[in-house]
Amino acid sequence: MGLLKGKVSVILLVFSLLVVLCASLSVSKEDQQLRLCKEHCRQQRQLDSRQRHQCETACEEYIREKERREQRDEPQSRHDPGKEVMIFEANPQTFVVPNHWDADVVLFVAQGEGTVSLVYTDRRESFNIERGHVMVIPAGVTAYLINKGNNDKLILVKLINPVSNIGKFESFFGPGGDNPESYFNAFSSDILEAAFKTSEDSLKRIFSQQREGAIIRASEEQIKALTHEKGSHWPFGGKGSRDSAPFHLLRQNPRESNDFGSLFEVDSNDYRQLRDLNVAVSFANITQGSMHTPYYNSRATKIAVVLNGKGYFEMACPHINSELREGTVFVVPPSHPFVTVASEDENLEVICFEINAENNHKFPLAGQRNILKNIEKEAKELAFATSAEEVDEVFRNQEEEFFFKGPRQQEHRRGYSII
Ligand SMILES: *[C@@H]1O[C@H](CO)[C@@H](O)[C@H](O)[C@H]1NC(C)=O
Repeated sequence: MGLLKGKVSVILLVFSLLVVLCASLSVSKEDQQLRLCKEHCRQQRQLDSRQRHQCETACEEYIREKERREQRDEPQSRHDPGKEVMIFEANPQTFVVPNHWDADVVLFVAQGEGTVSLVYTDRRESFNIERGHVMVIPAGVTAYLINKGNNDKLILVKLINPVSNIGKFESFFGPGGDNPESYFNAFSSDILEAAFKTSEDSLKRIFSQQREGAIIRASEEQIKALTHEKGSHWPFGGKGSRDSAPFHLLRQNPRESNDFGSLFEVDSNDYRQLRDLNVAVSFANITQGSMHTPYYNSRATKIAVVLNGKGYFEMACPHINSELREGTVFVVPPSHPFVTVASEDENLEVICFEINAENNHKFPLAGQRNILKNIEKEAKELAFATSAEEVDEVFRNQEEEFFFKGPRQQEHRRGYSII
């Protein structure tokens, strides 16, 4: 009976404070999710009534959109059903109470600064994080977090990889009380008395005080005390050696870069923690009015989240043409050619999780490295039913490699939609 008591739905964390968008890509019970989502909006005391209403509307839109996608069986829902991407926001000077997940979490810091602490049986590791960091929080490891910024929200984009084979996941709160509901409260008092060797009264006192939710405001002194990196420095490497330290994606040399954009990438070769997950993370910054080459990933499914800017993306098979703006999530299945274009007025910044990244290759379909350049003359002529010279003229013209000047923004896009 009490078993479920201490488990707090994942929605609690996603919709903590204010939610812009949560892109849940798995199939689960909408009604329950909607209820939990709205309930959490209501629980947030710092929201005024307008913000609370916005929060609830965001919940409804999110669930509706999800149902729509599932009914149409759009490619967005066609990927490993267990994985989800969510955007997590914490207000300035807040503390996210300790919790663990039955999932490995890969996170990208999209905005703000904070400190993450991970608790193991023999130690604690604390890491300062800032925009551009990628970090893995392994399943089952209790973690807590502060947003130390005075003005900025801390925004994390998370890829959730459930470890249970039923593909569902949730977070568990221990240190807590009524809200977040502590898993300790699920046990009978006899058990707790025996386990802690203490009286029911003192147990009640500690496990019933917290009612403020999973993200709470912290004082300046508390924030200051929690803002420091502290890892046990294990001299011999191996198991204890700052295994989880974050990786600064935006401080690497870009994999691709020219006037039209840059692409930063991290995979398990650079960051060991990604190996077991078979995930790579990339960040594309497409200059205003530019695009990347049409290409496809051979094996990886790409889940992309727009962090800044506007633009559009087109994908083949099925043909999709979709507007992109801040918070849009789109999924590109393996081997599907696609292209992303930034609007004329601002850069388009996109963070991507590539799932099944091992041995994945990007195959560009235009530009200096395009694969069609390697096809024999006769094969070209047979395939295109025209002269190889004519084909080459087209495929050799683009002198850039990955990012190009984009199409002129024209009215032609009007009338396009998902076909
Ligand atoms: C994206 O590129 C622009 C320059 O084109 C730069 O000002 C901006 O800081 C870049 N964004 C990130 C997150 O690096």
